[in-house]
Amino acid sequence: MLELERIAVDYGHVRALWDVSLEVKLGQRAALLGANGAGKSTTMGAICGLLPLAAGTVRFQGRELHRHSTVETVAAGIALVPEGRRLFPAMSVHENLLMGAYSPQARAHIDDSLRQVHELFPILKEKSRQSAGELSGGQQQQVAIGRALMSRPQVLLLDEPFIGVAPLVVREIIETLVEISARGVMMLLVEQNVHRAFEFAEYAYVIENGRTVLEGSREQILGDAQFNEKFLGLA
Ligand SMILES: Nc1ncnc2c1ncn2[C@@H]1O[C@H](COP(=O)(O)OP(=O)(O)OP(=O)(O)O)[C@@H](O)[C@H]1O
Ligand SMILES: [Mg+2]
Repeated sequence: MLELERIAVDYGHVRALWDVSLEVKLGQRAALLGANGAGKSTTMGAICGLLPLAAGTVRFQGRELHRHSTVETVAAGIALVPEGRRLFPAMSVHENLLMGAYSPQARAHIDDSLRQVHELFPILKEKSRQSAGELSGGQQQQVAIGRALMSRPQVLLLDEPFIGVAPLVVREIIETLVEISARGVMMLLVEQNVHRAFEFAEYAYVIENGRTVLEGSREQILGDAQFNEKFLGLA
């Protein structure tokens, strides 16, 4: 289980996260909802050890993580598909995928991981030698997810992966993610659109100005009067 307990994060002297708590249980798909600037990406950065915690704890499988480096976070089994994908556009699809397999554990299983990623996203096998920058938005997103899978994660964090991806491709990617989660990978998806989030997630957390303000199932979230008033205009 991945567990954030009352975490806070500062950028210099400015506090961005005040009080965020959430849990992703084994095999669960959760979503993190919130408006622009609510603190979704900051939360992802804190889970990965990219940003230090000013307060609170991040635990994974019962072990506290926040003093670990990002390399150790990857080794512990947490992988991030970052906001905006962050591919190396001039490098081939294959080379981009290999970038995800830098930890010693991942390197030991590189051929098996690559076979699995090609099986999940056949287009990446087809376009293996092509520059990542030449691919469509949806294909690039598959490269970004594939790269994260190359680290053989137990937890996959996805930060707004569907921006710039055609709706049909979004549906395909969601189906593949559900298949991966059925193999036991925990997932946390950052989304701004609540309806899309629940095409994927079983449970969601809502953050507002750096604080968790609501959590629940689709029915609970959509049934919340305050949530409706504040967010459904955005959906
Ligand atoms: N590098 C940074 N330096 C200073 N402040 C930052 C930095 N990154 C984010 N912030 C601030 O922290 C707050 C949370 O930002 P964050 O990027 O986590 O929001 P978000 O929910 O991911 O938003 P979006 O939907 O736009 O991606 C915002 O007020 C933002 O301006
Ligand atoms: Mg963000």
